[in-house]
Amino acid sequence: MDKIKVEKLTHDYGHGRGVFDVSFTVSEGETLGFLGPNGAGKSTTMRHLMGFSKPQKGETRINGMRCDKQQCRVMRSVGYLPGEVALPEGLSGRQFIRMMQRLKGSSDDKLAEKLLDRFKLDPDGPVKRMSIGEKRKLAVVTAFMNDPDILLLDEPTSGLDPLMQETFIDFIQEQKQRGKTILLSSHIFSEVEALCDRIAIIKDGRLVSTVDAAEIKHGLHNIMTVEFESPKDFCEFSKADLDFKTRDDKTLRCSVVVDDDDINRFISAVKRFKIKAFSEHSVTLEEYFMSFYKKDKTTGGVSYA
Ligand SMILES: Nc1ncnc2c1ncn2[C@@H]1O[C@H](COP(=O)(O)OP(=O)(O)O)[C@@H](O)[C@H]1O
Ligand SMILES: [Mg+2]
Repeated sequence: MDKIKVEKLTHDYGHGRGVFDVSFTVSEGETLGFLGPNGAGKSTTMRHLMGFSKPQKGETRINGMRCDKQQCRVMRSVGYLPGEVALPEGLSGRQFIRMMQRLKGSSDDKLAEKLLDRFKLDPDGPVKRMSIGEKRKLAVVTAFMNDPDILLLDEPTSGLDPLMQETFIDFIQEQKQRGKTILLSSHIFSEVEALCDRIAIIKDGRLVSTVDAAEIKHGLHNIMTVEFESPKDFCEFSKADLDFKTRDDKTLRCSVVVDDDDINRFISAVKRFKIKAFSEHSVTLEEYFMSFYKKDKTTGGVSYA
């Protein structure tokens, strides 16, 4: 069964803002990266999964339960790290931990103490005197202290210093190894590459691509850049039925995306011409992501350049 399911989720805030017809699933033990820039709709989707907002259309489910209808049960089975941490300022860190334990119905202090130690947080001071980083750490402790099976992490390393970011990423790696199901939103490519099995790219509230992280890691998408001796050869080659990403008639250079299945077709097209220079590199996650955001002027299509 899918542990997390978002189906045709739509919440239109007007002026093109919100989420539109978003569908994806995360199966047991899988980590899905939810990649998109500010305003793309990541937090909105996560809030619907926590039952904090009701969908206008579609639905969200955790462990098969409707998130808007069974919010209490959903909250107990999920560790949620919100994008923007808003904590009650009148409490001490420890009082906040106690309050969250009561809400989650857990009474075991051991894990909370371990997490406080690991993330080097002293919870005894008042929340209102804590730095942003300390507040994030407190949110991390309360999200994980009942050892939930499902983790919803909304830009989890923002506000943490580089050392703590590393501690956090190691911690998530361990949670993955323990079989947790994780949805992690981010705009940081290295974080997504380090942690995710699959990556869903969101743009202007709509999913534009879902890709296996292994495909990107193993270089399934390659870019071949070819430079020609003569304008005639350059023009002829440009007519080939290939996935051109850039074409520059001044330098007589063009680049083509060639997936593993297309290599023979690319070689037969190129071998008829005199080549001046040739290079090849694998598409990085960043280039793949950017291809959905940057329009290439020369081809009118998307560009990895
Ligand atoms: N409650 C709301 N009322 C109006 N607009 C909202 C509300 N929540 C989010 N939005 C808008 O929806 C879009 C997506 O926001 P959000 O999900 O926070 O993006 P992300 O987390 O990817 O940065 C943004 O344009 C944001 O301004
Ligand atoms: Mg956000």
